[in-house]
Amino acid sequence: MAVHSFARTLLLAGAAFPFTQGLAQTIKTSDGEVVPADKTTVAPAADAVVSTNDDTAPAVVLQLTDAVIANLTAHELSDIDLFKFDDTDYEDGSSEVAKRTTAAVGSCKTYPGDWNWPSRLTWGLFDLLTGGALIETVPIGAVCYPDNGVYDAAKCADIIAHWTESATHERDPTSVMSPLYQGETCMPQNGNSTKCTLGGFPSYAVKITSVYQVQLAINFARTTGLRLVVKNTGHDFLGKSCGSGSLSIWTHNLKSIKFRKSVRTPSYSGPAFEIGAGVTVGELYEAANKNNVTAVGGECKGVGVAGGYVAGGGHSPVSGLYGLGSDQVLSLDVVLPNGRFVTASETQNTELFWALRGGGGATFGVVVSMTIKAHPRNIFSGATWTITSGNGTKNSDEVFWKAMFAYWAKFAEYAEDPVYGYSSIFSLGPGAGYMWTMNPWMVPGMSLVDFKAKVKPLFDEWTALGFDFTPEYFEHDNFYDAWTHHFPTEAVANSNLRTASRLFPRAIWDDPAKRDALFNEVRAVVSEGSALIQYNMNPAKPAEVPASGANSHWRDAIWYGIMGAGWAPGLEGAELEAVQRKITDNWMGRLRPYGPGGYLNEGDVMEPDFGDAFFGTNYDRLLSIKRKVDPHDLFWAPTAVGSDRWKIDGQPDWLTLQIGKLCKVSN
Ligand SMILES: Cc1cc2nc3c(=O)[nH]c(=O)nc-3n(C[C@H](O)[C@H](O)[C@H](O)COP(=O)(O)OP(=O)(O)OC[C@H]3O[C@@H](n4cnc5c(N)ncnc54)[C@H](O)[C@@H]3O)c2cc1C
Ligand SMILES: *[C@@H]1O[C@H](CO)[C@@H](O)[C@H](O)[C@H]1NC(C)=O
Ligand SMILES: *[C@@H]1O[C@H](CO)[C@@H](O)[C@H](O)[C@H]1NC(C)=O
Ligand SMILES: *[C@@H]1O[C@H](CO)[C@@H](O)[C@H](O)[C@H]1NC(C)=O
Ligand SMILES: *[C@@H]1O[C@H](CO)[C@@H](O)[C@H](O)[C@H]1NC(C)=O
Repeated sequence: MAVHSFARTLLLAGAAFPFTQGLAQTIKTSDGEVVPADKTTVAPAADAVVSTNDDTAPAVVLQLTDAVIANLTAHELSDIDLFKFDDTDYEDGSSEVAKRTTAAVGSCKTYPGDWNWPSRLTWGLFDLLTGGALIETVPIGAVCYPDNGVYDAAKCADIIAHWTESATHERDPTSVMSPLYQGETCMPQNGNSTKCTLGGFPSYAVKITSVYQVQLAINFARTTGLRLVVKNTGHDFLGKSCGSGSLSIWTHNLKSIKFRKSVRTPSYSGPAFEIGAGVTVGELYEAANKNNVTAVGGECKGVGVAGGYVAGGGHSPVSGLYGLGSDQVLSLDVVLPNGRFVTASETQNTELFWALRGGGGATFGVVVSMTIKAHPRNIFSGATWTITSGNGTKNSDEVFWKAMFAYWAKFAEYAEDPVYGYSSIFSLGPGAGYMWTMNPWMVPGMSLVDFKAKVKPLFDEWTALGFDFTPEYFEHDNFYDAWTHHFPTEAVANSNLRTASRLFPRAIWDDPAKRDALFNEVRAVVSEGSALIQYNMNPAKPAEVPASGANSHWRDAIWYGIMGAGWAPGLEGAELEAVQRKITDNWMGRLRPYGPGGYLNEGDVMEPDFGDAFFGTNYDRLLSIKRKVDPHDLFWAPTAVGSDRWKIDGQPDWLTLQIGKLCKVSN
């Protein structure tokens, strides 16, 4: 579409905007022309601005600017104040806008049913200004509910068949992959037995395709006091990408990927990718493969690189070489809580640049795009296996754990390789043995010959123990082939499941007594039913990377464990509480003395001292930046920096679901 049409200013006519009912509406353009209001005629409230961030190929960015606001104001559009920037001078301090903002930051975020919840007319105006991008939430499972207006048996069957695939949830505006936090309402599998409710789903989502829509949503949420959430793919394990009564900014469709052969910053010179906020790990890896480079992302293809992954630090199969995902960032384009669109880099908005790299998602603003390093193509070798113990296998549990301890004991040595040892251990039930799946143990830059020599001492020990194991070796001359062939496809959206995690520092390996005590404690926790998804790796900060807000506990960790448990469907009351307390207080309580840090993206939503655990020594500085950048606490997510000022009404102190009003904690 021509840029010109976006810049056209519109006068909206008509008293009512029932935008979901499809009634004929008209709009009057600045030329006085009256035309029907629909997606083809309604020009978004955007200004075409040439981005100056990149001198090789200027990108046109559609922005909300003071000029657009001035035009809309000149046309006496009702409620246009709701879309103004925070630095707008309100002529009358007691204006409706000022009152609403005060109400919003006073005690609770505006909630459906509140006197100041926006009217249909106001939501309609918002929809028109965003170019028809507003979506009223219909939970993904609603098509499975016969008494629901959108029942569709074929769509329902399709959603159920693909429920555990991340793509099913990525392409839905509000679905999240930990349904626990939306209250497991409207699950497609329960269509014939329960009712579909909104639960912890947002009330509305804005489908973002350009910057101005993010700006409109941020300004609107701030002036009306709405709870604001950001959803990219919905992978978050702590319930951070949903929230009842909220407006959600849905960034999934920002899919642009550009390869730059040479980018120069004060600390870096080399190839890079410019990626939109919706680009996933799989999409980035494909682009890297095509351009003969290695990109840094996680192991699961659906995770959003420029969304929660980089915001939370982000660990990668190549972290031993290049550090965290957040260490790759050269610059970020972000809409701040005041509605302004800025670039943060080593030379501009440097405090934000520090905070946005690892200081957590949905805290300082909405990232729209970023530039990240690309690294040379490399070789990758390693091994995978599945080993079981107990009944019907050649391994007794005793031998299984002796072999495991022998492996764990070498973690400090392997971390130097630099290794990516990614495996999971599960108890198969009381007395029924264990299953250990290595998927994979891999070393970037190492040949298979060297890898085999590296693992020989351990495998010799195992053979002497009588341990039964069969490794499958591999070697590839690029990351993409290693990743596509030797990494599992991960199932998502399981019900009744919660995670917690711990980062164990290298220093423990210097003290054999402490190390063995840790091993025994982890073994005990796994025997009691906790899953253990373990990573042997060390994402130290490469020397040339500028300092960042990423969790300081990551830097000396050589063993990262995700623990957690599931429980029976329908578990309620004291029994449900007991499971939750076991994870946070008992299992994590016993491991916390060895590893005070946890990973905020795969951590415990009830982590008692989340500031230290998820951000380490960076917490205080992150908090002071948060207070400065977001004085109204527009952004809130559980365990995010500064989040302890707010609490969701009615949630118990042992599990925070995203259901209820978000209210200020009185103090
Ligand atoms: C199956 C699976 C595998 C995983 N593998 C890895 C792995 O290998 N390595 C790793 O480090 N992590 C991994 N994770 C964790 C993953 O990094 C986090 O869940 C991450 O938060 C996902 O980000 P997202 O944007 O895709 O998800 P979302 O749930 O959409 O968002 C996560 C958080 O980021 C915020 N956010 C999203 N986009 C933006 C934005 N543009 N601006 C501001 N805030 C934003 C959201 O509000 C939310 O708080 C995995 C998770 C799953 C479920
Ligand atoms: C503002 O309105 C004027 C006159 O209608 C128009 O020429 C101009 O392009 C508009 N500017 C923006 C940023 O919308
Ligand atoms: C609900 O019942 C109908 C009719 O028996 C059946 O066809 C359908 O598969 C059921 N749906 C679910 C989600 O179980
Ligand atoms: C790909 O990258 C490798 C390592 O940098 C280099 O040796 C090789 O020549 C490149 N191949 C092509 C086709 O550019
Ligand atoms: C061991 O395996 C046998 C045969 O499969 C089974 O009958 C028995 O219940 C198992 N015992 C345990 C403790 O799982």
